Amino acid sequence: VYQDYFFNETAYDYHDGGYVPLEVYDAPHVPLTIPSLLKPDRETDTDVWLTVHAQSGETQILPGAKTKTWGYNQSLLGQTIVFRSGKTYHVTLKNSLPELTTFHWHGLDVPGPFIDGGCHAPIYPGEEKEITFTVNQPAATTWLHAHPCPLTGWDVWHGLATMVYVEDDHEDNLALPHNYGVDDLPIVLQDRRFHEDNQWDYDADYDPDGTAGPTALINGTVNPSFDVTTQKLRLRFLDGSNRREWRLHLSDDLVMTQIASDGGLLPEPVQMTKCMLTCAERAEVIIDFSDYKAGDQVTLYSDDTPILIFNIKDFVADDTTLPDKLAEISYPDVDPNALVHQVVLAGTDEEITINGLKFGMMRIDDRQEIGKTEYWDITNTNDCCGGMLHPYHMHGGSFQIVSRNGQAPYPNELGYKDTVAVNPGETVRIKMKFNFAGVFMYHCHIIEHEDGGMMAQMQVYTPEE
Ligand code: C2O
Ligand code: CU
Repeated sequence: VYQDYFFNETAYDYHDGGYVPLEVYDAPHVPLTIPSLLKPDRETDTDVWLTVHAQSGETQILPGAKTKTWGYNQSLLGQTIVFRSGKTYHVTLKNSLPELTTFHWHGLDVPGPFIDGGCHAPIYPGEEKEITFTVNQPAATTWLHAHPCPLTGWDVWHGLATMVYVEDDHEDNLALPHNYGVDDLPIVLQDRRFHEDNQWDYDADYDPDGTAGPTALINGTVNPSFDVTTQKLRLRFLDGSNRREWRLHLSDDLVMTQIASDGGLLPEPVQMTKCMLTCAERAEVIIDFSDYKAGDQVTLYSDDTPILIFNIKDFVADDTTLPDKLAEISYPDVDPNALVHQVVLAGTDEEITINGLKFGMMRIDDRQEIGKTEYWDITNTNDCCGGMLHPYHMHGGSFQIVSRNGQAPYPNELGYKDTVAVNPGETVRIKMKFNFAGVFMYHCHIIEHEDGGMMAQMQVYTPEE
């Protein structure tokens, strides 16, 4: 029997306006789409040049008419981008969409707001721009998504989101499945509603508390299945939906061993039978199918809805064991005299605020010195029994969760994070360090909440400023 860690059974039930349960879409099962890996334009031992091209297109998602979609280097979502820690990247951002967009590296530690790609960094239709940064962080599953305030919800709904992996030597040397698309799969969790002729209609489905649809899409695939052997399988979950919380579990209550969260490996593997993700969170889990035989099926569910089927094709013995220690997570101590930064997330619908205010580009709520580690207390003032949880995200670095209402965090929250679910009535204390100066955003990652103004900015300063 395994304890189920961060798992709020009823988070969305608290809110009576517009919760959309997942439904099985009546269409045949199709192979899970595995995006291809983005090929660099050129590279040396130390530097890599690549192009990320935001474009519109049409995608065969359902039988019948294709769906009009947006994506990076393809028609929907994007090719998977792989960075190597220590290398310098020269990324050409190209916008062929009819509207301005931005390219936000969610979870990547990059120098300043213009490279980070939030509202500060619009790329206009027809424009292209090169950004340069050195990746210097542990192996992790991060992602790229559009972030043009206040149209992030619109852009992401149309498909502008893709996986971005960071790799390093430490992780390469651990006995973890690492064969992309074979035993190491990207799993982008999203939901949509299909209208006439299989089209999406963001305006029709828009909800100020987060836009949702009844049909699950995994890597853009509806009703996917994937063929595996009984060898260990690594799934890299990303909640890439505008609003939905995913409560994941497997048939037979098969154990999932979580090895990583947003910012990379956990200190130790954590076994669990349920895994909950809120918007923008990532979890990497290992599934051991060795008790199954060829011909068996294992189903992944979110709540009671099946969302992905694994067909076990062959029995293949797997004598690898997971390491007991995965990573050293060390954050500097916090100066006991330093002030504790306060963030107050309040309200639902159009009434949402952060620190009592709506977002504005000139808004600076807080300051922190570069390189210092300080506490931030994130409070969700929604009533415990009548409000929503808010997935809280900070740009500009990663953090460590210190406590939830004064209690120790769950074992699967002990790695580096950049997004944390704050329950109604809860204060989550985090330790945050910034490595680059500039103005960074922080906000609720229910995308219509951030677009609706639940977003603030802070300034990371160097001491002489
Ligand atoms: Cu994933 Cu401000 O964003
Ligand atoms: Cu929110």
